[in-house]
Formats: sequence, C-alpha cells, structure tokens
Amino acid sequence: MDTTQSRKDIGFPEDRADWNRTPAVFDDHTLKISGHPVMEDWEDGYMKRLAQIASMQGGRVLELGFGMGISAGYIQESKKLKDHVVVECHPDVIKIAVDMYPEQIASGKMHLMSGFWEDITPLLKDGSFDGILFDTYPLTEQEIHGNHFWFFEEAHRLLKKGGVLTYYSDEAKRFSENHLLRLKAAGFHDITYEVVDVDPPADCEYWQDKTIVAPIVAK
Ligand SMILES: C[S@@+](CC[C@H](N)C(=O)[O-])C[C@H]1O[C@@H](n2cnc3c(N)ncnc32)[C@H](O)[C@@H]1O
Repeated sequence: MDTTQSRKDIGFPEDRADWNRTPAVFDDHTLKISGHPVMEDWEDGYMKRLAQIASMQGGRVLELGFGMGISAGYIQESKKLKDHVVVECHPDVIKIAVDMYPEQIASGKMHLMSGFWEDITPLLKDGSFDGILFDTYPLTEQEIHGNHFWFFEEAHRLLKKGGVLTYYSDEAKRFSENHLLRLKAAGFHDITYEVVDVDPPADCEYWQDKTIVAPIVAK
C-alpha cells in the first residue's frame, strides 16, 4: 500500500524534536503520534514472529522503537534471552514502557534507552548483539517506506557474527530489488524471509495486504 501521499497530507514535524513534543495517543488498539497511525494491534502475530526471529539466538537483543510494546513482550518471553535493550525516542512511550514492564526493568532483563536511535546506537559497541528488531517510524518524507534502509549499516556493525536482524519490512510478498541492494551494500549476504499472514481492518491507513514479509538477515 503506497502511503506516501497520505503521510505527506498528515505532515511531518519540522525537526525530530517536534515529534517528541506532540503527545503519543494510545487507545486499546492503536498508537498515534503527531496525527500519524504509528502502530495498531492487528500486527500482533507479525510482531510475535519478528520477536521470535530477533531472539532465535537468545543472548543480547536490541530493539528500536517500543510503540505499543507488543514485540517487546514477545522478546521477553524468549527462554534464551539474557538482555533486551530498547531504544525509544518519545517520552510518553517511554512512560508506557515503564508502566508495562516494571519487573523486567527492575530485574535488569530489559534496559530502556530514551532517544533517537541515530544518537544512541553509535554509543553501543561493535559486535555486541545476537539479534536486532528494528521497527521505528518515518519522521521525514524522505524516509517514507524506507526508514529501515538507513539502519542497515549500523545493524551490521552492531551484530555479532551469526547474529540476526529483522524489521518491519514494508513489503507484502518479497523483497524489492532496491531493498536487496541496500542490504547487500550494508554487508549482508545471508538474506531470507518468511511471509506472515495478517488481517488489517478495512480502515487501516497504512496496510491493506493480507501478508507481510518477516526478514531473516544474518551477519
Ligand atoms: C511502529 S512503533 C513500534 C511498534 C512495536 N514494535 C510494537 O510491537 O508495539 C514505532 C515506535 O518507534 C518510535 N520511533 C520513531 N522514530 C524513532 C527513532 N528514530 N529512534 C527511536 N525511536 C523511534 C516511535 O516513537 C514509536 O514509538
């Protein structure tokens, strides 16, 4: 589903800091920020699969974008998980994360880092994660349908050898040629995927296909 025009119509913040100044609005099924439909709970099954892929090696898992905390909950269920580092930029979403997972945070099994990944991940060591789940949101027109592309090089640097990257792919059935080129340019060559069935409601503004690709990209 091409959402370029609908997202331009909603409009983007003047700079990244403005994204954090408008409230994050949660209801039982959705999260909206700055008028954008950022997350909806029909993605639950897809998030579960992404979380399983990111934690297939156990160990240390990095997650970018907390949203409604659905994938975070599934990552925490992994028996082999040692440490789960979550990077989230929006202060209201950070508050929700603290309310949702107090025990996991207190026990040291989940660490919240508040800020934009672009500022935070450069502080993290090379080869320090077994798995990564990337699911942020485009904050500029340029990033629409490709905000994950900007993260691929950083993912390659942060993963241990054999570590696995997955992410909200924005692809219904297969990787586009450009998508594959971007992965390869970042140094990834072990690239596969699964196609996950989804059932978005008819009024969903950002997805109408009945499937989404779950990437399995190993270093
Ligand atoms: C689609 S939601 C994540 C959904 C999550 N996987 C879940 O299961 O609920 C995207 C989240 O990423 C955050 N975000 C957007 N851009 C970001 C960035 N550059 N760095 C960190 N977080 C970002 C948003 O504030 C939002 O909370």
